[in-house]
Amino acid sequence: MAFYSVCFVYFVCLTVVFAQEKPSLEIQPKAINKEVGSSLALTCRPKAENPKMVTQLEWIDQFGKRVDSIRSQSLYTSALPGEPGIVLIFTSLTENQGGSYTCQANYASETIQSSVSVTTYVDINFVDAPLSQYPIVGQDFNVKCKVHGNPSPMIDWNKNGETIITNNKFVVGTDELLIKNVTEADDGVYKCTAVVLSTGQIKTRDIKVEVQVPPKIVPMNTISVVEGETASVTCSAHGKPPPTFTWIKEKTREDLARTDRFDVKKNTGELIINRVEFNDDSMYKCIAENPAGRTSTAVKINVRVKPKIYELLNVTAPIKTETKLICKSQGRPAPKVTFRKVTSREPFRVGPQLTDKRIVLEQQYFEEKGESFGILTIKDLVRSDDGLYECISENIAGGAYTNGHITIEFPPSFERFKDLPPVWSWNGRPGNLSCLPEAIPNATIIWKFNNIVIDRNNSNFKIIGNGPVSNLIVLPFNDVRFYTQYECTASNKLGVNTTKIFLKQGFVPQIINQVRVERITATTIKFSIVQPNDFDGMPIRSYTVRYRPETQLNWDYAFNHTWSNGAPYILENLIPEATYHFRFAAKNDVGMGPFLDAQSLTMPRRSEPAEPKILLEDHNVRDQKDNYVNREDRITVSQYADHYELRWNVPNDNGDPIQHYLIRYCEANKVNGVWRDTECTEQFTQSVQYTSYQLNHLRPDTTYKIELRAHNAIGDSSPAQIKVKTARGLDPVVPVKSPTMSSALIVGVVVAAVLLILIMVDITCYCVNRTGILACMCAGKAKNHDDEDPKLGRDEREPLKNDLTDEKQTSVEYDGKHVYTKSGEIIGKHSAV
Ligand SMILES: *[C@@H]1O[C@H](CO)[C@@H](O)[C@H](O)[C@H]1NC(C)=O
Ligand SMILES: *[C@@H]1O[C@H](CO)[C@@H](O)[C@H](O)[C@H]1NC(C)=O
Ligand SMILES: *[C@@H]1O[C@H](CO)[C@@H](O)[C@H](O)[C@H]1NC(C)=O
Ligand SMILES: *[C@@H]1O[C@H](CO)[C@@H](O)[C@H](O)[C@H]1NC(C)=O
Ligand SMILES: *[C@@H]1O[C@H](CO)[C@@H](O)[C@H](O)[C@H]1NC(C)=O
Ligand SMILES: *[C@@H]1O[C@H](CO)[C@@H](O)[C@H](O)[C@H]1NC(C)=O
Ligand SMILES: *[C@@H]1O[C@H](CO)[C@@H](O)[C@H](O)[C@H]1NC(C)=O
Repeated sequence: MAFYSVCFVYFVCLTVVFAQEKPSLEIQPKAINKEVGSSLALTCRPKAENPKMVTQLEWIDQFGKRVDSIRSQSLYTSALPGEPGIVLIFTSLTENQGGSYTCQANYASETIQSSVSVTTYVDINFVDAPLSQYPIVGQDFNVKCKVHGNPSPMIDWNKNGETIITNNKFVVGTDELLIKNVTEADDGVYKCTAVVLSTGQIKTRDIKVEVQVPPKIVPMNTISVVEGETASVTCSAHGKPPPTFTWIKEKTREDLARTDRFDVKKNTGELIINRVEFNDDSMYKCIAENPAGRTSTAVKINVRVKPKIYELLNVTAPIKTETKLICKSQGRPAPKVTFRKVTSREPFRVGPQLTDKRIVLEQQYFEEKGESFGILTIKDLVRSDDGLYECISENIAGGAYTNGHITIEFPPSFERFKDLPPVWSWNGRPGNLSCLPEAIPNATIIWKFNNIVIDRNNSNFKIIGNGPVSNLIVLPFNDVRFYTQYECTASNKLGVNTTKIFLKQGFVPQIINQVRVERITATTIKFSIVQPNDFDGMPIRSYTVRYRPETQLNWDYAFNHTWSNGAPYILENLIPEATYHFRFAAKNDVGMGPFLDAQSLTMPRRSEPAEPKILLEDHNVRDQKDNYVNREDRITVSQYADHYELRWNVPNDNGDPIQHYLIRYCEANKVNGVWRDTECTEQFTQSVQYTSYQLNHLRPDTTYKIELRAHNAIGDSSPAQIKVKTARGLDPVVPVKSPTMSSALIVGVVVAAVLLILIMVDITCYCVNRTGILACMCAGKAKNHDDEDPKLGRDEREPLKNDLTDEKQTSVEYDGKHVYTKSGEIIGKHSAV
């Protein structure tokens, strides 16, 4: 392109050339001021009448040197095509190419020349003015804005529309702006403007200044991690831009980002240790880095190791000696090792125990190896030291627990089996003698008879086992020599001990000493039995009574009744006014002893029932011996102000079934030390099915006298009496079982009661006469009543042998008619032949 433009210039000039007459050289263009970097062609043409006379056309550069026509150079010459002339070509102007260029030639013998001045200029150029610059906080910083231009431009700064001038914060330099003691507030866009006054050139550059803060690591404490677990440690650092992190293990100088079990989060500083190992315990370095700087901190990572018990040996030691139970454990920090007897909740304390100075706990620590020992020393061993002991090894990382056993050896002892009762044999039955010594190690046992060791071949004996237990079976076959004392000798390495066991011949019990009547009603008798004289005989299991009414002459068809030894000896369902004959015998495992003929007895007449027994729950009134209290001056206190629940025990019916109960109560006042009744109620009845009655509508803080009678066909019992004082004031809020009755209802109840009494009286008449349907109903009713009694219901069916086997004594209650055990079972049994 440069070449064609040169040609164009040449043709334009051609027309002017011929006007000249004197030979000269004409240069075009005449004056040149060109920007550096542009290209330029200077044409030099001879101006003469005969241009052919002009020879040796050439260009001389500003230093007086001839310019070659070598095209590859930045400055070269070229001939003008088609006519005389020479072109000087600048491919790209440089600043130092400015100056005077001369075109010269020969004309005839003359040298002619012509010069042209080339001036260059340079546009404003940002030479060193990066668009983003990063000062560091706290330091001084030069914001660079180096411009180049020829003529030299001036620069000027401004931030946020305000011109920056030199002051104590800024120093405006020729090609930079010094910011002193950079702070984060110095962030921003700085406008650098360059101006050339002579040419009016102006250029602006926006320089973004981002202040950087070197990282600062948040101080870290020693960190503890647990062996086998995954741990995370975070190194955090502040800085701008946010720093990146590196973790180094100091001992090995490893970069943990490149190791397997470790995981380094470059951007957050987190170090994750997978499956922490014992040897990870070390110093580590966290390095935080950003363009503004690099900082590091060292941190200790402690590896905590849960305790492990690696040795706890069971020990065996003889009594009265000393033993040590040693528990060896590992862990970091070295664990604390203690012991606990498994039967006790409290572990032993270090040193001697407060309650037992024989037992001393010692602890040994080997901190570097992470080991510790617990040593439990027991002196003067006793049998109770035997047992399981738990070794407890604990540190902050966890605990380990293992049981170890201390076995105390001791010589045979019969402590638990001393004073054994004799063994009995009868009718040639084998005697079975058991020897059960306690011993560790197990004892071996031999038996002696008349101070001679019993040979296993002896046909009169059989020995089963020789330790730790042994049974000697004696086959006496009624040979009295064998009913004697035997010796069991037990021995182990620590000693020998002997116990003696008697084998005795068993016989049936002797005759009973005495039988007395303790209590009698129209239908029941309670006996007391004095046991036979042979006290060192076999234990008595039961007593049997045989009894027959006088009308029955033969004992063969007598009734039998058997009581367990110790039960209340009560006979029931006897017939009033009948005379009975009794005989008694005792029974043991061998059999029944001889009968004792007792006195015959005539049962009392049927009569009105016995007096019922009122039950009191008030502890203030309860008699020491007996909680049925019927006494003049005792006053029981009701919990309630308006009602009282009267409860009683069924009395003996004295041969005729109880039909109902009669209740009456009066207000009672003590006048001059004497009780007087006022305002008595009518007597009213309660059905025989119940043994309680709730008195309602009582007045608060009032004493009542209550009378209770039982009624049968023969009449009323004597009245049982109590005095009850109702509670004061308002009734406490206690749920009442039955809803309170309205007064109308009470009237109704009273009327009904009176009617009931009338009907009862009516029925009674029929019953006494034993005639008619009503009599049958009455009999049926009476029978029903009996059936309700659980005792009679079972009586006839229960086999007699149950009595003989039931040797256990049970607490019983006797109300004069029936016998109840507390568990509801019946002890007295009855069976007819
Ligand atoms: C830099 O500035 C900070 C507050 O911005 C000041 O505490 C500190 O002394 C200054 N440093 C110098 C060298 O002036
Ligand atoms: C110690 O005795 C206990 C209980 O008898 C048992 O479980 C444990 O295995 C024994 N230890 C050793 C080391 O024999
Ligand atoms: C033998 O046993 C008895 C208890 O039956 C005991 O008192 C005594 O100390 C024991 N003798 C020896 C030598 O162990
Ligand atoms: C002897 O009595 C023991 C228990 O006292 C019993 O285990 C054993 O079987 C009895 N031996 C014979 C032969 O009856
Ligand atoms: C001791 O006797 C018991 C009960 O027969 C048995 O279990 C135990 O193994 C014996 N011990 C030795 C050491 O023989
Ligand atoms: C017991 O009898 C066996 C053979 O039955 C015999 O070998 C042994 O010597 C006898 N023991 C004694 C002490 O007589
Ligand atoms: C009553 O006792 C006699 C003599 O002991 C006996 O023969 C009879 O079988 C017994 N009757 C009942 C029912 O047990």
